[in-house]
Amino acid sequence: MENGHAKNLVAVIGSGNWGSVASRLIASNTAKLPSFHDEVRMWVFEEILPTGKKLSESINQANENCKYLPGIKLGANVIADPDLENAVKDANMLVFVTPHQFVEGICKKLVGKLRPGTEGISLIKGMEVKMEGPCMISKLITNILGINCCVLMGANIANEIAVEKFSEATIGYKKDKEVATRWAKLFTTPYFLVSVVEDIEGVELCGTLKNVVAIAAGLVDGLDMGNNTKAAIMRIGLREMRAFSKLLSPTVRDNTFFESCGVADLITTCLGGRNRRVAEAFARNGGKRSFDELEAEMLHGQKLQGVSTAKEVYEVLTYRGWQELFPLLSTVHEICIGQLPPTSIVEYRIH
Ligand SMILES: NC(=O)c1ccc[n+]([C@@H]2O[C@H](COP(=O)([O-])OP(=O)(O)OC[C@H]3O[C@@H](n4cnc5c(N)ncnc54)[C@H](O)[C@@H]3O)[C@@H](O)[C@H]2O)c1
Repeated sequence: MENGHAKNLVAVIGSGNWGSVASRLIASNTAKLPSFHDEVRMWVFEEILPTGKKLSESINQANENCKYLPGIKLGANVIADPDLENAVKDANMLVFVTPHQFVEGICKKLVGKLRPGTEGISLIKGMEVKMEGPCMISKLITNILGINCCVLMGANIANEIAVEKFSEATIGYKKDKEVATRWAKLFTTPYFLVSVVEDIEGVELCGTLKNVVAIAAGLVDGLDMGNNTKAAIMRIGLREMRAFSKLLSPTVRDNTFFESCGVADLITTCLGGRNRRVAEAFARNGGKRSFDELEAEMLHGQKLQGVSTAKEVYEVLTYRGWQELFPLLSTVHEICIGQLPPTSIVEYRIH
């Protein structure tokens, strides 16, 4: 595509908070770059708004996602489409950005519907645990659809990028640097700097595991334990993230943890993300109100990833007998399911 004559056509699968911001970012570039078609189609999981209007129609009329990104124009070249098959029709670059629990179902609907040579990129944080072991989302996409899939992760709280505050992101790729560079071109703006690293597993594991550490950080906030404790939790968390990633995938590189997807994403999520916020409320309620209840009350349809990821990580740890090696990752899950009180988040042996 890039080297041939035809232009790249991008479709975004997902239209939540990050999905909407990613569409806006991408569309600002496709409008300018000659190697891309202007139009960016964004698949919308259809919802009926309190006004009785369909979300997709409302987005196309107002050029704004009033539910997941109110107050921000997406760009006239972003077209919302509730029909998945139609949204990806003729596209050769697919951006996957839905909560991770929906990816498998979405991909299954797309089998046999994609153009040959289609490339994917996943902005999704999370993993699926299968009988055979953990499967990262990019791998799941590749396995179901038979397409190459890069990942983009970083210190990227969507609402801040929506108002063009400076941030960075990391693209992880497997072998094909040319494709990774094409993705970087699509996403890079003066306020959003994207680097590429040949460590897809490391980048994706960083983005996934930090949500579990963010739950721990939120618990510490809810227990009013202060900055030293929170920094300690972040350090222990980062250490466990690295050790767990390397055990799962020995090719993971240490340097990846110093990229935006690593320490930077960990810091921003532990300071400002939704996982931290809901975990703080959980601790303030002494663990008596469930995460499900708090998620529904506080996030208005947005999804909490940390709790489900903690469960998935815990399944891997118990299956492989690694629990002792990862006290923080294990404790977070045991607190989330009410097996331990929130105060257990700071009860470990030195490690
Ligand atoms: N929001 C952020 O700041 C941010 C930043 C970086 C990465 N991410 C990651 O991006 C991914 C998507 O998050 P988001 O913030 O765009 O979403 P979100 O949590 O804001 O919204 C949830 C989305 O899920 C959709 N949905 C609900 N039920 C569905 C179903 N049954 N099938 C398919 N879709 C359904 C909703 O329509 C909505 O678009 C997640 O993996 C998240 O971890 C988010």
